Amino acid sequence: MEFHTINGDLRMSRLVHGYWRAHEWGLDAQGYLRLIEEVLASGIDTFDHAACYGGFVNEGQFGAALKLDKSLRRRMTIVSKCGISFPNAALPEMKSKHYDNSAAHIIWSAERSVRELGCEYLDLLLLHRPSPFLNPEEVAAAFDNLNERGLVRYFGVSNYTAQKLSMLQSYVKQPLATNQIEISPLHIEPFADGSVDYLLEKRMKPMAWSPLAGGKLFAADDERSRRVASALLEAGEAHGETRLDTLAYAWLLNHSSGIMPIVGSGKIERIRNAADALGIRFDDEAWIKVYAAALGHNVP
Ligand SMILES: NC(=O)c1ccc[n+]([C@@H]2O[C@H](COP(=O)([O-])OP(=O)(O)OC[C@H]3O[C@@H](n4cnc5c(N)ncnc54)[C@H](OP(=O)(O)O)[C@@H]3O)[C@@H](O)[C@H]2O)c1
Repeated sequence: MEFHTINGDLRMSRLVHGYWRAHEWGLDAQGYLRLIEEVLASGIDTFDHAACYGGFVNEGQFGAALKLDKSLRRRMTIVSKCGISFPNAALPEMKSKHYDNSAAHIIWSAERSVRELGCEYLDLLLLHRPSPFLNPEEVAAAFDNLNERGLVRYFGVSNYTAQKLSMLQSYVKQPLATNQIEISPLHIEPFADGSVDYLLEKRMKPMAWSPLAGGKLFAADDERSRRVASALLEAGEAHGETRLDTLAYAWLLNHSSGIMPIVGSGKIERIRNAADALGIRFDDEAWIKVYAAALGHNVP
């Protein structure tokens, strides 16, 4: 496995395991524990959560597994997110879908994530989505509070434009660690709209959500997906690699910005397919061929 060391001592594996879909995996605490052990054995040691995943229950299920083996916490980097509210069974006081980036909500959410995950502290807390009502001074106060109390080591954002990220950084004392954005061979806009360029400029490493386009890459009935899949498989021929998921992860990992793809599957074979991507190199020609397939035409 390869790792990034961010802002001095935040260590993140180049591939991250994500828990958005975890409530679909049908795992009890023992099943979670086995999965976590297998993920760690694959070399991936960074885990991506959000307070709201699974209707505000997935963090608690992961936490129940961590309680079964207390030694696991020190072997992992835990990321979570805050700021999205919607009606759900676990927290009936949430009555409507909205973003809440108030200091009180950020602090409440991070405290709850630490409690649910049973992890003592979060390594990284992200604002999940940009709120048009954001008060950056409140965010800065919340980050200071959580940092000073030892509940959160580092902070970042998700789904931010470069301009919003720059704005927030101008208020927040801590150097923001990442912007978690959607990037995949089917979602190439961040390479053109300045999002990735801004992160490169600031020496920040992007986290990529839905790196397989949420499974769309495998959709045989979609012409664009088929075209991009063929371009990836053609690039794989030089390496004797025929696994489409492995090649898609490799395409992301090879980008100079140091993308950290978040693996969304709970199937260990697919997680290992992701880890194997680190051995595959794309040169300019092979990388751009996949990009052009996503564009639908040759580069000008
Ligand atoms: N910050 C944000 O706003 C945000 C938004 C979305 C997601 N995320 C994070 O990103 C993580 C990954 O997102 P994602 O789950 O959408 O990632 P993804 O890897 O693009 O999509 C996962 C889906 O692809 C399927 N899949 C994976 N490998 C496959 C294969 N070889 N053949 C066929 N289908 C395959 C999976 O099915 P199986 O489950 O059957 O393997 C699953 O349904 C999430 O868990 C979450 O941590 C963040």
